[in-house]
Amino acid sequence: MKRSDVVGGAVDWTAQARELDMADPLAEFAERFVAADPDVIYLNGNSLGRLPLGAVARLREVVEQEWGRGLVGSWSRWITQPQMVGDLVGRLVGAAQGQVLVCDSTSVNLYKLASAALAARPGRPVLLTDAGNFPTDRYVLESVARAAGGRLVLLDTIDDVSAAVDEQVAVVSLSLVSYLTGALADMRELTQVSHAAGALVLWDLSHAVGAVSVELDALDVDLAVGCTYKYLNAGPGSPAFLYVRRALQAGLQQPIWGWFGQRDQFAMGAHYDPAPDLRRFLAGSPDVLGLAAVAVGAEMVLEAGIDRVQEKGRRLGDFLITLADAWLAPLGFGLASPRAATQRGMHVSLRHPSARPIAQAVIERGRVIVDFRMPDLIRFGLSPLTTSFGDVCAALESVRDVVASGMDEATPVGLTADR
Ligand SMILES: Cc1ncc(COP(=O)(O)O)c(C=O)c1O
Repeated sequence: MKRSDVVGGAVDWTAQARELDMADPLAEFAERFVAADPDVIYLNGNSLGRLPLGAVARLREVVEQEWGRGLVGSWSRWITQPQMVGDLVGRLVGAAQGQVLVCDSTSVNLYKLASAALAARPGRPVLLTDAGNFPTDRYVLESVARAAGGRLVLLDTIDDVSAAVDEQVAVVSLSLVSYLTGALADMRELTQVSHAAGALVLWDLSHAVGAVSVELDALDVDLAVGCTYKYLNAGPGSPAFLYVRRALQAGLQQPIWGWFGQRDQFAMGAHYDPAPDLRRFLAGSPDVLGLAAVAVGAEMVLEAGIDRVQEKGRRLGDFLITLADAWLAPLGFGLASPRAATQRGMHVSLRHPSARPIAQAVIERGRVIVDFRMPDLIRFGLSPLTTSFGDVCAALESVRDVVASGMDEATPVGLTADR
C-alpha cells in the first residue's frame, strides 16, 4: 500500500483497487466480453459467466457457414467435437488426451459415471457424499443408489470422508469447490484415502474448471464431471464434460446405451456393443453450437494461463475479504468462506441474518449483481477474466450502503433460484 492510499488516517481503498487493476496482467481480457451495460458490476460469473465476443463470432460462423451452408455435410467435422473440445478442456484439468468428453449436462454425466463406478465395485453397495454437495449431485447419486439396490450415505461435512470410507463404499463423489462457501477440498488427500479403502473417486469440478488449477492425471483421479457455463463462459445450458481415467475406460459400462457410444456407429447393428475407449461414455448427438462456445471459453483460459487465472482470483478474494473486514464485519457480516486463499475457489460468501433482503436490495439498486444462497449467504463470484479489483470495491461499497441506510429492511424477498 502506498502512502497516497492513506487519506486522513483512513485507507483509500478505491485508489488501492485502481493500482491493483493497473498491475493486473489479465486486465485486458475483460475487453473481450460483451458489456451491454458497462456500469453493471457482475459478480455472478460463478453461476453464469459473461458472454465472450469470441463466442458471438464463432457461433455466427458455425450457424451461418457450417450449418447454413454446409448442412448435413458438416457432420464430418461435428461428429468428433465432443472429443476435440474435450481434449481442450482436459488441458485445463491436467488430463492427457483421450480422457475428457464434452457432452450432455453435468447431471447426466454424473449419472453415467456414478452408475458405471458402482457397477464396477460388486459387493460394495454404498455411494458416499456430503450433505453440502450441490443438490443435483445428491439427487443423482440417490437415484443411482436406488436403481442398483445400493445406498447413498450423506456425511455432515467433507471432513468426515476419511473416517467413513470403508470396504462397503464403491464410490466417493465430492465437489472440489463448495457451491456454498467456495471451500476448496483437498483432492490429493481425499482421492488417496478413498483409494486406500478400495473405492473409486468421482469429482464434480463445476466450480473449479477454468478457475482453479486441477491435476487429474497426476493425482490419480478416477472420474470427474463439471459444467462449462461458469468460468468457461460457454452460455446457459452449454454441454458439460466428463473425465474417465484411461486405464478404467474399457472396464466401465455406463447405463445410457446410445448410438454415439456404439463401437461401429453407422453399422446400425442389432445390439449395443460399446466402443472400447472413451467414446463409450457418449450417448446421443452432441450439442454442436454449445461445443463451439465451450471451445472459445477453454481457449481463452488456456491463453491466459490457469495459474495466472487462479492467482488473480485469489488476490481478488483476499481484497474482498480485507474490505469485508473493514466495512461489513461491523455491520454484522461474517466470513463463510475460508480465509486462506489456498483453501478457496473463486467465490467468497459472506453470512448475515438478513442476507436475502440485502442481496435483493443490492441487485435492485441496479448496479451490482451478486446472489443469495439459503439460508443466510451472499455469494460474490470473482471471475478472473472479467472481474476487476474496482468491481470488488464498488460491490462491497454497495452492500455497506444498503445496510447502513436500512434499505434492506424495506425490501420484499423473492430472489429467483439458480445455482
Ligand atoms: C457443483 C455443481 N454441480 C452441478 C451443477 C449443475 O448441473 P447441470 O449442468 O446438470 O444443471 C452445478 C450448477 O451450478 C453445480 O454447481
